This record gives sequence, C-alpha cells and structure tokens, in this order.
Amino acid sequence: MTQHWKLGVVGAGNMGSGIAQKMALEGLEVVLVDVSREQAARGLSRIEQSLREAAERGIFSQEQAEAALKRIVATDRFEDVRDADLVVEAVFEDLDVKGDVFSRLDRICEEKTILATNTSSLYVKDIARYTRRPDRVIGMHYFYHPAKNRLVEIVPHEATSADTIERTRLIGRLHGKTCIVVRDSPGFAVNRYFVPFLNESVRLLEEGVANIPTIEAAAKQAFEIGMGPFELMNVTGIPIAVHSAAYLAKEISEFYAPAKLLIEQSDKREDWDLGGEADESRFEIVSRRLYATVFGAAGAQVDEGVAGIEDTDRGAKIGLRWRRGPFELMNRVGVKQALAMVQELSDRRSGFPVPDIIRSRAAQGTPFAFRYVDYEVRNRIACLTINRPEALNALNPEVVEQLEQAFDRAQRDPEVRGIAVRGAGKAFVAGADIKFFLDCIRRGEMESNVAFTRRGHRLFRRFETSDKPTVAVLDGLSLGGGSELALACQAIVATEQGSLAFPESGLGIYPGLGGMLRMNLHLGRELAKYYTFTGSKLAAREAYELGIVTELVELEEVEAAIERLVQAEPRDKYRRKDFPAAYREYQTAFSDENVRRLLAGESVQGVSGELAKRLGKILSYKGLIALETMNRMIDRQSKLSIEESIELELDGLSSIFSTEDALAGLTAALSGERPTFRHTIGRSVAYHEHA
Ligand code: COA
Repeated sequence: MTQHWKLGVVGAGNMGSGIAQKMALEGLEVVLVDVSREQAARGLSRIEQSLREAAERGIFSQEQAEAALKRIVATDRFEDVRDADLVVEAVFEDLDVKGDVFSRLDRICEEKTILATNTSSLYVKDIARYTRRPDRVIGMHYFYHPAKNRLVEIVPHEATSADTIERTRLIGRLHGKTCIVVRDSPGFAVNRYFVPFLNESVRLLEEGVANIPTIEAAAKQAFEIGMGPFELMNVTGIPIAVHSAAYLAKEISEFYAPAKLLIEQSDKREDWDLGGEADESRFEIVSRRLYATVFGAAGAQVDEGVAGIEDTDRGAKIGLRWRRGPFELMNRVGVKQALAMVQELSDRRSGFPVPDIIRSRAAQGTPFAFRYVDYEVRNRIACLTINRPEALNALNPEVVEQLEQAFDRAQRDPEVRGIAVRGAGKAFVAGADIKFFLDCIRRGEMESNVAFTRRGHRLFRRFETSDKPTVAVLDGLSLGGGSELALACQAIVATEQGSLAFPESGLGIYPGLGGMLRMNLHLGRELAKYYTFTGSKLAAREAYELGIVTELVELEEVEAAIERLVQAEPRDKYRRKDFPAAYREYQTAFSDENVRRLLAGESVQGVSGELAKRLGKILSYKGLIALETMNRMIDRQSKLSIEESIELELDGLSSIFSTEDALAGLTAALSGERPTFRHTIGRSVAYHEHA
C-alpha cells in the first residue's frame, strides 16, 4: 500500500545501501544513486548479498527478498531521483562533498522533494545553505546497520518547516524506523555522550588507571552491555571515533577532544589488543569515570534542549542497544551519587560543567520521572501517543497511569471533541509488560497484577463508554493488552501494517483485559475462541472484513479518517455483522463439540483434514490450564453483561498467575524462547514429533 512513494538514496556505500535495503524491504520504491555505474552496482550487489543471507537465516522469505530487490534501481543518473518524495544523502562526511550533492539535487529535484542528510558530524544548517530550499532540508541520522537498527534521529535545522518534519517522520515510519526529533547540534542526541564514553575509556588507559580488559569488563558490567568500548571501536572503526571526538571538541569544549592515545592508535591503523587479565579491584574507579562522562554529557544535551530525557534514553536503548539509558542509569545509581560523580570529573577537567538538570534533580531528592504518554490537541482532537517504543509500548503501571491522566485531561477540556490513541514507533502496543507480570509473580505479589489489570479495565471501559468519540490508530502490531485497548475504543482506524493478536495462551495465561469478552461480542463464541486460543494474527484487512476495524486507510490518510470517525453518528460497534464465507470453517472448528475434542487432544470434525491437523498442532504448544479457563470464561461471558464479564476475568487472575505454566510461559517470552508447559493437550507429544 506504500507503492506510490518514491525515495532516493545518494551514496551506495555501507550506509546508503543499507538504508535503501530497508526502504525496499518495507515496500517502498528506491533509487540508489552513486557517481559511477560501478559503484552503484557494487551497492546493489551488497544489498543482494545481505538480503540473501537474511532470507537463508529465515528472517524473511526468499520471495520477500526478491520483491525488495525489484523495488531498487541502482544508477549513476541523479536525474532519476527528480520526482522522489525524499532523498537521503549518505556520502563521504565532508562539507564540500555533501554540499555538491545537495546543490545538484536541489537543481534537479521537484518542489516537493525533501532533501535529507545522514551526516553525523556536520550541522544540517550548513548543508542546507547549498540549496534554495532550506525549509525542505533535514537530517536523518541512521545507525549502523541501518537495515537492522530501528533508530533514526530526525534533525530539523532552524529553517526546516513543520510540514517537512511531519513528512519525514511519516517516511521514517513507513520504513519501520523509530524516530526521535533532536536539535541540530554537535553529536545530536546519541553521539554527544556515546563518543565521550569511547574516548574516556581510552583516557583511562592512557592515564594508567586500568588496562583494556579491565575497562572492557567494568564498562560491560556498569552499562549492562554485551560489548565493551574497545571492542566496539574495533568493529566500528577507530578513525571515526577520532573524527567524531575532534568535531565535538571543536564545537563544544576541550573536554571532548580525542585522547592522544586514540589518535596514535588510529594513525597506526591497528585494532586495539583486547587480550590480558581484568583486574576487578579497578572496576569501581573505571565505572565511576565512565558514568560521570555519560551522565555529564547527556545532562548537558538536555540542558541545551537537544533532546528530552526520554529521547536521550531512547537513543541509547534503541540506537546503541544499551539496556538502560543515561537517565535510567542515574536513577539506578542514585541521582545524588550521579551528581557526585559528575562533580568529581567536572572539578578535574575544564569544559565539563555540572548540568543543571542533574543538580536540580539531586536537590529535589527524587529520581527522574519519565513521560510515556504524549498529549497533543490537533484540530480539537486529543492525540494520546503511547511513547515507549523501546518496549514496543508495552503497558506497565506507569503507562496506564499516564494514559489515564491524558484521558482525564481530554475529558475535562471542553474544546476537545474526540480522543485518538496511538503508539509511537513500529507497534501500536505489544501487550501488557511481561516483565512487570513476572516481577510480581516472582515476588509473590499476585494482587499487584490484579490491581494493575483492574485499573486497566476501568480505563478501557471509559474509552468504550466515553461521550467524546474514541478512536484507536492501529498502524502497527498490537498484541494482548494492546489489542484489548484497541477493541475497547469506539472505533479503530487501521493501515495495512496494523494487526491484532492474543498470544496469552502461549504464555500460560489468558487475555485478561477484555479480549475474550470483546472478541465474543464482535465475532461470537466460535471465532472468539479461534483467535484467543490459537493466538492467530488478525491482519488489519481481516479485522476490517470482520467488522472490528472501522476504517482501513493508508498512513497519510489516518488523520482524515480520525476526523470522519469523530464526526460520525455513534453506531453500535458490536452490531450483528455477516462474516465472509471463508470464516465458516473456523466457526465449525470451534463449535462446542469440536472444542471439547480439541481440548481432549482429538481431531476436530467437519473441517478439512489440513485445518484439523494445523489446529491440533498449534494448540499442543499452548498452556492447557489457560485454554480450559478461556473456554469456560468465553462460554459464561456470552450470558453476562460487559461489567459482569470484566469481573469474571478479574476473578480468575490470581489463580492463573499462580500456575507453574504462567511462570514458565512468561519467563520464556522474556527470553524469546518457546516455553515448556507442564500441562498441554494430551496428544502433544505426537504432534511435536510430526512437526
Ligand atoms: N512486555 C515487555 N517488553 C516487551 C513486550 C512486552 N509485552 N513486547 C516487546 N517488548 C520489548 C522486547 O523485550 C524488546 O526489548 P529489548 O530491546 O530490551 O530486548 C523490545 O520490546 C523490542 O522488541 P523485539 O522483540 O526486539 O522486537 P521484534 O520486532 O523482534 O519482536 C514481538 C516483536 C512483539 C514479536 C516480540 O517483542 C514479542 O513477542 N513480545 C512479547 C509480546 C507478548 O507476548 N505480549 C503479550 C503480553 S500479555
């Protein structure tokens, strides 16, 4: 559905070809340009190889890889990007070289074309000067490997228009990126603290504080990362660390200047030697220094308005794959402790002042509090964006509380006519937070899980019964609690990227936030059981055919659809609908008699042999206690009101969360493995053997 977009990438090196690959894989047409035909062809063969390897590893199918390749045109003709909606430049990091590309593109491209630069060490505003369209020039800073790493820093400069920012975000989203908008300043929001982290590691070595293995081990432990700074530099290139540090030093202060040893190592063109023994007694001193560096630089960028604390942390978690961002790390070590560390380093070195944000937070004596739900009123419609993309917007108590506050605010504001709820990044909401559930179980605090779910139910029901129309924007995946939130809204506007699914039975639990009851109201018992027992994905189109999704549109039409839905006369979303004939077989498969057979490990009857076999196999991987509970609940809910059905779901929660299966299922989900349940359907062994 994204075919009518046309994108361009200039520069077919590692970065440019990776960007083009990702765009094509997500269904966008791309022209990949380089100065010579050979270089363009080399970029294309790099993409071909990368796609082939990914298809062999089963990341996507061979057909998908081939289709992606067909969407890329590699050329030496700049004219071929003339009518592109956006062109990303990814050429050599030099202002003259980039400037040439930009003035050329500016001459060739149509009015509408946005020119984006993937620079990491130049100001976007300086590049924009080479064009007569500064309002349509922006930074799009991708992270290595751009086909895999989801983060993009979107960098408007002073003259970039709001429309350009919006369109760039949309295009980012169209190729599966999680975008953070940051100010045009040195290092943007990630390199600003990441490069000093690398540089300071070398300084520790240079000063003789510790050897490389010690610094590596201490950094891994302190930042909970898989690769230490020296190994990282070996992988990503030592010269680039020198270059980036020198740029930060030139623009910010001498604190950021590359360590002498770093420059020497770069000149030698040799990797760091990682060998040797780590000395644990030096871990503390090393971690303190690295923490101080990261905290001080991250705090400074927030003081300067480069990015907020949430986006600063997101940059670390999504872009660098750190487990926690700098501000979460400060909370972990204690903000007062963090302040002391930064102060200590600041006293010793010039050009490294203590940031106000850390000083004032330490004075307040409370940890940093993060905003996970953004609130914005546009055209008198309140947009509630669940903004926790690093966990695919999973719902935990903080998110639910903030969603509740945002909902209250929209309800109170007499100007607001309707309420839209959406997710930031590629997902709508990937369910309730598994980690939260698991922590409660492990601590034996079952009542916290119940209280959290009760609060969620209350809020979801308010979305369902609100006088102001509520619309869920389903333009990415939703699972469990996320699908339940969408179902609770009065209308759903979806794009082809949207989907609903209930993975709970595979986690040893049941969908406890109204999924069973609302699927039942929409589809009847049989199909409700089919989707909730099997966890099968309901693609947006399917959900539209079944009358669950109200409008199916393209991404750029979402706002207009929300407006239509807010204005529309209220309609009973659960009104009777006729389902396409193709669903009849599933209704048969989940008739009372067949459900009895399925749960007893027998084959269902009255459907094709293939479906019977498939269902048997799918259900054999699910928790049997969960399936039996769901079966009973859905049957009972058919005879109850919505309020009574909610109570029924809440009543069973403590008991389902207390099962061994719930513990096994949730633990496995967190580590990305398939769980082994104690109780599965009788014939499971036979099914697995034939799998
Ligand atoms: N609770 C907590 N964290 C979640 C989450 C959830 N429900 N869903 C996703 N996340 C986290 C992941 O753990 C991961 O964190 P990490 O980067 O620290 O490892 C991050 O979000 C990104 O997800 P990732 O798995 O890397 O993305 P993906 O595109 O490879 O896979 C999913 C996406 C949705 C298939 C996968 O994340 C998943 O299966 N999540 C569990 C969903 C679920 O079972 N929800 C129902 C809960 S009742």
